[in-house]
Amino acid sequence: MRVLFATSEVVPLIKTGGLADVSAALPAALRERGIDVRLLLPGYPQVLKALPHRQLIADLFPVHSFPAAYLFASWLPNGVPLFVIECAELYERGGGAYQDENGIDWPDNALRFGMLSWVAAWMGSAGSTLDWKPDLVHCNDWQAGLAPAYLHFADDAAPCVMTVHNLAFQGNFPSYMVAELGLPIDCFQPDGVEFYGNLSFMKAGLYYADHITTVSPSYAREIQTDPLGFGLQGLLAYRREKVTGILNGIDVEGWNPATDPDLVQLYSLNDLSGKSANKCGLQKRMGLHVDPGLPLFALVSRFTHQKGVDLVLEIAPQLVNLPAQLVLLGNGDAGMQRAALDLLHHFPGKIGVYIGFDEGLSHLIHGGADIFLMPSRFEPCGLSQMHSQRYGVPPVVYATGGLIDTVTDYNEVTCAQGLASGFVFHSMDAASLHATVKRAASVYYDKKSWRDLQHNCMTRDFSWNRSAAAYHDLYMNLIRP
Ligand code: ADP
Ligand code: GLC
Repeated sequence: MRVLFATSEVVPLIKTGGLADVSAALPAALRERGIDVRLLLPGYPQVLKALPHRQLIADLFPVHSFPAAYLFASWLPNGVPLFVIECAELYERGGGAYQDENGIDWPDNALRFGMLSWVAAWMGSAGSTLDWKPDLVHCNDWQAGLAPAYLHFADDAAPCVMTVHNLAFQGNFPSYMVAELGLPIDCFQPDGVEFYGNLSFMKAGLYYADHITTVSPSYAREIQTDPLGFGLQGLLAYRREKVTGILNGIDVEGWNPATDPDLVQLYSLNDLSGKSANKCGLQKRMGLHVDPGLPLFALVSRFTHQKGVDLVLEIAPQLVNLPAQLVLLGNGDAGMQRAALDLLHHFPGKIGVYIGFDEGLSHLIHGGADIFLMPSRFEPCGLSQMHSQRYGVPPVVYATGGLIDTVTDYNEVTCAQGLASGFVFHSMDAASLHATVKRAASVYYDKKSWRDLQHNCMTRDFSWNRSAAAYHDLYMNLIRP
């Protein structure tokens, strides 16, 4: 079985969030099951630089408003084959995958990701001149969302799956782009790609895909209603028989405290003694007082409203008075970044802040922290709360999406069952977060209970095995007819 996995980011080449992790780990897990999965990715400068030995496999002539481009073949470091679209005009520039250096969306994103979608559909239909033709196209998020529409109007098209990693990002563009992107004008209607007067890449994917998946069962239900459907709940509820939630896994080799090169000292479930050396290392690195006894809370996140970072900033003064320490790693919203740096200034030695994206530091944080904070207002799946559990760091989470599906609240019943793995709060406000943080800190001082909690966290199976099997079944059902 051949599957083309169209995505806009993948580790270690280019990453803004969990989609990049999933795009490397899921195809690798599917390949282990014997499926020939290959990635399709835009040729951003970071990608071209990392793949100097790529091989040219096709000239893509200008079509619609897309400039000429080249298709290259290469491999990810984990062995997954990769197709890269090289198009200087659309992709070779400074800044990030979606935005310029100032955080402003690239004005030609419709063309940039229309091209990704168009090439995916070309490869999966009669027009392709390549030897390798996929039996199925797997599209991820709005950036690949037009591929199902192109496939719908193409000859001899492969079936396709659309996976929603985050419905809040929809890729909505002015209606005149319909013609520029070469879509038939009559698909610009409510039963098609039209969404409140705009062309919506996400809606196109949801409307035309043969099947829709999202990254947790709870989120699959939530997006069929307001407000988490972000306007698309009607379509998703209408297509509910075709909507499946498949929980993400994590890269359990890259995230393993027994082998992690970013830790000060390695540790494992059977010997947690190394954790204190990591805590000390983290405290030193972040300018905190070195104190093995205080609970150390940590957050690693994009700084956005979605992630509830504002609530953590709001309760930080109360948190350090518990007493406790706090480490924050992330970037994004300028106001949140400023507020985090203000806290650093007001609570020296108690709060450590690093504004930026730093993979190595994020590993050390999971190694050194005691309690992880992830109070997301909504969370399609979330990977960080799984990383933290794997490192024996129980997370504090809001009851939403993938967080509900991966964290079990600490209480008498779940403790007795050996299932408790973190702390869940149910009211999205600072007072509830504060109460839950206090609850976590008090359990932290009960050494026996804490050890049990860490044990439950570290024995959970967050590998890709089960999810890869679910995708495999889905692919077979779609290809068979
Ligand atoms: P999302 O994709 O919505 O941002 P996830 O929890 O699925 O959320 O994935 C986030 C990923 O990005 C995790 O691997 C997390 O460790 C990583 N990450 C987020 N912010 C940073 C940062 N500032 N530095 C390093 N890694 C980060
Ligand atoms: C998105 C979601 C996140 C999910 C990730 C990978 O970024 O916000 O919850 O874990 O995609 O599917």
